[in-house]
Amino acid sequence: MERRMKLGILISGRGSNMVALVEAVQNGDIPDSEVALVISDRRDAPGLVSAGDRGVETLVVDRRGRSREEHEAEIIGELRKRRVDLVCLAGYMRLLSKDLVSAFENRILNIHPSLLPSFPGLNAQQQALSHGVKVSGCTVHFVNEYMDAGAILLQRQVKVLDGDTVETLSARILEEEHIAYVEAVKEFKKSYDAR
Ligand code: GRF
Repeated sequence: MERRMKLGILISGRGSNMVALVEAVQNGDIPDSEVALVISDRRDAPGLVSAGDRGVETLVVDRRGRSREEHEAEIIGELRKRRVDLVCLAGYMRLLSKDLVSAFENRILNIHPSLLPSFPGLNAQQQALSHGVKVSGCTVHFVNEYMDAGAILLQRQVKVLDGDTVETLSARILEEEHIAYVEAVKEFKKSYDAR
């Protein structure tokens, strides 16, 4: 059955993938959906302004001064309050605990700037350059409580060029990330509607 899908997006920084998702929802590229909430664990995340500028509700859920369990309990509560169907991590710099993963089982996606399972964790683009791979890219995957480890939903390739720096490679991968995340959410929605 087709139904309106509510997205909750978690960020920690710039938020360009979040903006790609918000715009795709708002222009109908991702149909019958809405971005119910953007949550940042950092008060100074520039993405909060970008989300607000696009009319999306934002919330800071600060991690400082409390345990991971308390922090995540608040996030789960806010997502549930808005009946969020799908959680998208977009540059969210924290590993999720089992609590959050099981609260939204098989309904949390993340985007990572490499072709997983190669180069998980931080500085994926630098890892790709250091290994001398000729092809890298990005991966949208389901999230479990391990780092960049859940089932892969979608990947897009990017050629590594002679003379690439972390900056040039990251910029080309980022362009593909924005396309990949929108495509992945569309795919997710199709299977969600079919349930
Ligand atoms: C992206 O490269 C994403 O793959 C990684 O963190 C970066 C976030 O960028 N997880 P942005 O905040 O979406 O602009």
